[in-house]
Amino acid sequence: SNRIMLGPLVAAIDQGTSSTRFLVFNAKTAELLSHHQVEIKQSFPKEGWVEEDPKEILQSVYECMDRTCEKMTQLNIDISNIKAVGVTNQRETTLVWDKETGEPLYNAIVWLDLRTQSTVERLINKTPGRNKNHLKHKTGLPISTYFSAVKLRWLMDNVEKVHEAVLSHRAMFGTVDSWLIWSLTGGKKGGVHCTDVTNASRTMLFNIHTMDWDPELCKYFDIPMEILPKVRSSSEIYGLMKSGPLTGVPISGCLGDQSAALVGQMCFKDGQAKNTYGTGCFLLKNVGTKPVMSDHGLLTTVAYKLGRDKPACYALEGSVAIAGAVVPWLKNNLGIIQTSTELEQLAADVGTSYGCYFVPAFSGLYAPYWEPSARGIICGLTQFTNRSHLAFAALEAVCFQTREILDAMNQDSGIHLSQLQVDGGMTSNRLLMQLQADILCIPVVKPSMPETTALGAAMAAGAAEGVSVWSLNPEDLTEVTSEKFEPQINPEESELRYARWKKAVQRAMNWET
Ligand code: G3P
Repeated sequence: SNRIMLGPLVAAIDQGTSSTRFLVFNAKTAELLSHHQVEIKQSFPKEGWVEEDPKEILQSVYECMDRTCEKMTQLNIDISNIKAVGVTNQRETTLVWDKETGEPLYNAIVWLDLRTQSTVERLINKTPGRNKNHLKHKTGLPISTYFSAVKLRWLMDNVEKVHEAVLSHRAMFGTVDSWLIWSLTGGKKGGVHCTDVTNASRTMLFNIHTMDWDPELCKYFDIPMEILPKVRSSSEIYGLMKSGPLTGVPISGCLGDQSAALVGQMCFKDGQAKNTYGTGCFLLKNVGTKPVMSDHGLLTTVAYKLGRDKPACYALEGSVAIAGAVVPWLKNNLGIIQTSTELEQLAADVGTSYGCYFVPAFSGLYAPYWEPSARGIICGLTQFTNRSHLAFAALEAVCFQTREILDAMNQDSGIHLSQLQVDGGMTSNRLLMQLQADILCIPVVKPSMPETTALGAAMAAGAAEGVSVWSLNPEDLTEVTSEKFEPQINPEESELRYARWKKAVQRAMNWET
């Protein structure tokens, strides 16, 4: 037959909060050859709770793999050219399953979930000086509902099945990467229970200096260490696919999605940064091989460790909980739009929020505030305000939140980023990109291939020892083509709008007290 010869290919599973994707790249050119995407259902069983079904997550991965492989075959591309698969995932989301039956023991508690708010407040109140940064010297993180340890604690305290499985040594804990790798490498029939350093660094049980689980932290949260996955580097062979169209192919890359985007944007040098607009919005800056602690509310996190014998690199991270998540909210909860394209059109119709400010603090506020009791507000309304202004305010909120974390980053380092590299679903919104440049007063640069998260995971998988079809030498890497958005409004106007935003944020804070 006339099969197209392309050389080695590398694939990535990208399991995000809102959807799952499977993508295949050419390891020589980084070209995206084929992909498939499936939406993931989120359930909100109580106010502030956010859950997903672990089986649906796994099913969606198989569906995406199957459909992508079918598309490749239709394109006459031989899927046996796929030499490795990387996994990248929504971070912090917490699962516990039974290693003997392979059954999840509860839904996945999604990173955004607020059910642990009272636990978090209790823990902070117990620390000397009510210090939310009490564990930061080891973890790089403030005590918050965001990270896995408190979610795992909740599962052990409130779900009988989890409690029993822990007592009978049948429980396995994992973030989404662990659940997928364990399942794909055989599950109850010998699946590999592991995670990578980037995902581990989001649990609050991991010591970012020793690069391993920390016995003291585990004791603090009363978590038995035997339920934790083994921590590996982000680029090595973890195991082989045991079923599906890619049976026998090694899984050899694993990175939390924000780390993967940093790699996919080729931010390998100290000082390089990227901002990803997904469900939330995450600005990460590579700070090199020594962890740097923030004085301005940013997290210190593991950026990547691309091989067992390679050094770990760290990042400063500004995390925003709600960015793209405003779109389904405006659609499902308010019914003022049907699609994200409609949101852009509505906002573009007016080109201003007309003084309306929308702080979408649905899950409290993350960086730089770390205030779980903040709640969303819409303010500055007049009789003139309509849904177009609200649409504009929603997009502006994403940009203002990014400005806040960029400011924190600039203050921490004393060096001002001269432009911002961006990626993620929302970057297809050109109005948003222009607004972002206007509000930051620096250019915003977007790669023409938007799937940078998946690309990063594929690169890590392809570069693993024993696979070695992808070079991570900066000189060998393909130049990425990009588009640049220059600021178009004057800085005074930008500052004025930003100052009003900050006032709105103050009104959203401490809502319940
Ligand atoms: O920390 C949560 C983050 O990893 C989720 O990313 O792209 O699903 O919003 P995303």
